[in-house]
Amino acid sequence: MPLARSVSVSSLPGLEEWGGPGAPDNVVLFEVAWEVANKVGGIYTVLQTKARVTADEWGESYVLVGPYVESSVRTQVELLEPPQPALRRTLAAMNAQGCKVHFGRWLIEGSPAVVLLDVGATAWSLERWKGELWESCAIGVPWYDREANDAVLFGFLVAWFLGEFAAQSEERPFIVGHFHEWLAGLGLVLSRARRLPVATIFTTHATLLGRYLCAGSVDFYNNLHSFDVDKEAGERQIYHRYCLERAAAHCAHVLTTVSHVTAAEAEHLLKRKPDLVTPNGLNVRKFSAMHEFQNLHAQSKARVQEFVRGHFYGHLDFDLDKTLFFFIAGRYEFSNKGADIFLEALARLNYLLRVNGSEVTVVAFFIMPARTNNFNVESLKGQAVRKQLWDTANAVKEKFGKKLYESLLVGNLPDMNKMLDREDFTMMKRAIFATQRQSFPPVCTHNMLDDATDPILTTIRRIGLFNSSNDRVKIIFHPEFLSSTSPLLPVDYEEFVRGCHLGVFPSYYEPWGYTPAECTVMGIPSVSTNLSGFGCFMEEHIADPSAYGIYIVDRRFRAPEESCAQLTAFLYGFCQQSRRQRIVQRNRTERLSDLLDWKYLGRYYTFARRMALAKAFPESFTYEPPEAAAGFRYPRPASVPPSPALSRLSSPRHSDEEDERYDEEEEAAKDRANIRRPPSPPGLPTAPARN
Ligand code: UDP
Ligand code: G6P
Ligand code: GLC
Repeated sequence: MPLARSVSVSSLPGLEEWGGPGAPDNVVLFEVAWEVANKVGGIYTVLQTKARVTADEWGESYVLVGPYVESSVRTQVELLEPPQPALRRTLAAMNAQGCKVHFGRWLIEGSPAVVLLDVGATAWSLERWKGELWESCAIGVPWYDREANDAVLFGFLVAWFLGEFAAQSEERPFIVGHFHEWLAGLGLVLSRARRLPVATIFTTHATLLGRYLCAGSVDFYNNLHSFDVDKEAGERQIYHRYCLERAAAHCAHVLTTVSHVTAAEAEHLLKRKPDLVTPNGLNVRKFSAMHEFQNLHAQSKARVQEFVRGHFYGHLDFDLDKTLFFFIAGRYEFSNKGADIFLEALARLNYLLRVNGSEVTVVAFFIMPARTNNFNVESLKGQAVRKQLWDTANAVKEKFGKKLYESLLVGNLPDMNKMLDREDFTMMKRAIFATQRQSFPPVCTHNMLDDATDPILTTIRRIGLFNSSNDRVKIIFHPEFLSSTSPLLPVDYEEFVRGCHLGVFPSYYEPWGYTPAECTVMGIPSVSTNLSGFGCFMEEHIADPSAYGIYIVDRRFRAPEESCAQLTAFLYGFCQQSRRQRIVQRNRTERLSDLLDWKYLGRYYTFARRMALAKAFPESFTYEPPEAAAGFRYPRPASVPPSPALSRLSSPRHSDEEDERYDEEEEAAKDRANIRRPPSPPGLPTAPARN
């Protein structure tokens, strides 16, 4: 039994790195989620990026528990024998009874241990377990809901695993079970029902009802307090899922969520106020050279430009050097993710750029997975035509170079009229003829299964943005997540983001929203909203977010029309920036990375674990609620306002690179001097304590 110890509050740092107080003795941490080594959405990003700080703090006492998904395991997990005897015995005992439980290392930073439970292998237990669930919790799960069936199987397996682990341990261990989202919630409920020695935490990354209600046409935020939750869940046929979620939230020793926005939602819809907000961080990569991320932007942009050259073949009547790349990405929830208002704002932007005679062209990418049946011919052809032009140019260049070389070898300047022959011209003309096309460049890169009813496509038809020559705003809908092995756009998501100029995420429902956070740490400006966890977090900690390239649309206190007008103004303002202003702004954006680093934000997870241990095992652990801390804020950048261009002497001979250096060194130093860094964000505890 561990001795009661206490962690000194005064030793807790502010925005300095959070090493964590280290794992308490004889405590094992199991973090349970459906997205362990199994990519679905943002929860995967939470687990994957947090692994290193958690593994640093807990070492071998940290184990992630998830489902066994063959295709992901093959590429992400090294299967091994568990090194700890108790785990080895647990797996052996379960596998002897017909389960398929695997152990391995997830091949990501921190290489955390993972236990993967094959839900398919125990599907034969489903009906029995459903009966047990009904007997013990009065929750009935219908046969047709496959996801809920998986949640039942996974939940019973997790509880079995935790019980077995406790039984197989020589000394009765203290277990922390941290469960994410409703799909993993049943393991928590059963752990409590079976009185296992587990201190439980439930983190909700959204609420089921919130997501469903917002996707309809409900004035969600103004009516939060008045929804009849049972009725609403019943009408949407998610009552059983809602029960699983609500049971987990209520059974947990500690309930946490990712933002204050979702905390309010949980209070009203799940009927429990979260004990703690655990904001999502990222594993921030620091570059040794100051301007490396700017160079990466230029390199990645070149890759995106290549794709655009192919996609718009025959219609490349715009200047790629004056073309800006905007994008929206994430799960395809048309209105929740704000794709609706983004499209409307793009239509208005198109008008503004046209009537004001702007030379800027905007290519707006929509990266949202939908049901397709592969790439369409026209898109693939575009890249083939581009490749053919490139090959032709290279072939001619080779011949030209050879003739030039031979002429120089014999001491003559070449006769330029003889450098290219008829065959070369024929080849070049053929390549040019191949670039003719009758139709506009396609709006969508894939054959959509629901083409006629797809919300993005139907909106595009309504607003008429068809990639015509007159349009200053072009649209490319790529209804599949990006991959470096794609034959069409062979870049991974990170490279793509780096190559773009602005991420646009005007969500209506977004508990956190990793996509703008990822933009920030890569130094790419973004648009988010004050209904997203990320947007609120940034608003709270930055005095003038838009000066740092963090544009936050007000969707909370304004009518949709006004929000759209504000978004349009942001987009149009962005288009009016010079290259130099964009470089300056990217430098500023990147400077905010620290704020989003798990090295700092990981502490809230530590607090949650401490709190749960103290609640579950009060005789051995204590937790003193930390004193309220003063908040910190990034000040306005030293050289603002009104725009980066006016913030310094401008000489026409300044190169972009000189500008970058000026800003890094001078402006960052000024900002650093101004930043106050007291302990932690307001409204959140600053320190755990344990005796
Ligand atoms: N993402 C990705 N590939 C893509 C587009 C998005 O891996 O082509 C990832 C992105 O990096 C982010 C996640 O999908 O981490 C989306 O998370 P977010 O929290 O923004 O939204 P969610 O889908 O969880 O609602
Ligand atoms: C980076 C590079 C510069 C380049 C610039 C382009 O900052 O270091 O060399 O000129 O990107 O910026 P833009 O916003 O036009 O893509
Ligand atoms: C959920 C939310 C998203 C959040 C993610 C990680 O999927 O929709 O906003 O970023 O979880 O917490």
